[in-house]
Amino acid sequence: MTPVLIDCDPGIDDTLALLYLAGLHHVGGIELVGVTTTAGNTTAVQAAGNARWVLDELLVDAPVLPGRPHPAQTPLVTTPETHGPTGLGYLDVPAADAAGDWAELWARGVDKHPDLHLIVTGPLTNLAAFRDSHPEHYARLRRVTVMGGAVNYRGNTTPTAEWNFWVDPHAAADVFAHPPQGKITLCSLEVTERFLIDPERLEELIRALGPHPVAAHLPEILRFYFEFHEAQGEGYQAQIHDLLTCMIALRTIPYVDTSTTIAVEAHSELMRGTSVADLRGHWHRSHNARLVTDADIDAAHRELLRVARALAGRPGIR
Ligand code: BDR
Ligand code: CA
Repeated sequence: MTPVLIDCDPGIDDTLALLYLAGLHHVGGIELVGVTTTAGNTTAVQAAGNARWVLDELLVDAPVLPGRPHPAQTPLVTTPETHGPTGLGYLDVPAADAAGDWAELWARGVDKHPDLHLIVTGPLTNLAAFRDSHPEHYARLRRVTVMGGAVNYRGNTTPTAEWNFWVDPHAAADVFAHPPQGKITLCSLEVTERFLIDPERLEELIRALGPHPVAAHLPEILRFYFEFHEAQGEGYQAQIHDLLTCMIALRTIPYVDTSTTIAVEAHSELMRGTSVADLRGHWHRSHNARLVTDADIDAAHRELLRVARALAGRPGIR
């Protein structure tokens, strides 16, 4: 079984990513060894409360710990207008009261599972902090997949920057300047924004989940995200970046990637969080990433329904 640690900021698309990972955990595809949270869509403690709520609904008892409360070099900005006042759309659950050393959880994961998959679907604050606090463990990370960046592409936060990289540009710049052992698989906006759920797709998902209690909460969570995207001129639907990222990380759908060098701008005000791939080798720097350039979106929709049906049929539903 593939050991997986996810560092996320739920967040509505992070929540669907957790639902998917919980489903895979139950059907035996992965072992979810832990969830840690970054500050981004909401605060790290609220994100941990949200993640705990999702995992409890899904009857997964993996540890959930809040990570660093804010970026090291910039003030924290959260986005209640995108993900709702506390990150779960119109649903409100308590912030986490559990405390614990998230970096120790990562280090234990690396020690116990040399093939640990780390998936980061929030700002890279914790990943950069882990490099400082546990350099040897950081260097041993072999499978890291990140959702972030709008690579050589328009942004969703500024004309050139994507949200996760914009929130903590120094962390993103640092991680790509000093990558761990394995190249980082980067799922950036130009691919992840293609994975869209609309009310019809949501209905399909709810039907696939059948009697599972989590199904009843999805409309109040997703409705907020649909409304946000509509207000942005994207239509009454939602881009589910973080779930697609998990499928790519675990190779449960076909995708295409290319080995390249990524750099992130941290110092300029206008270009904060902008990410660039040196696709033609102008920089003469060693490659630090596998940039995902395409993914089979139809397969992603089928894969989500497959796991939802498996959740519907599993024993232990309250
Ligand atoms: C990313 O930003 C957040 O709003 C989403 O959860 C996703 O991780 C997309 O830019
Ligand atoms: Ca996220």
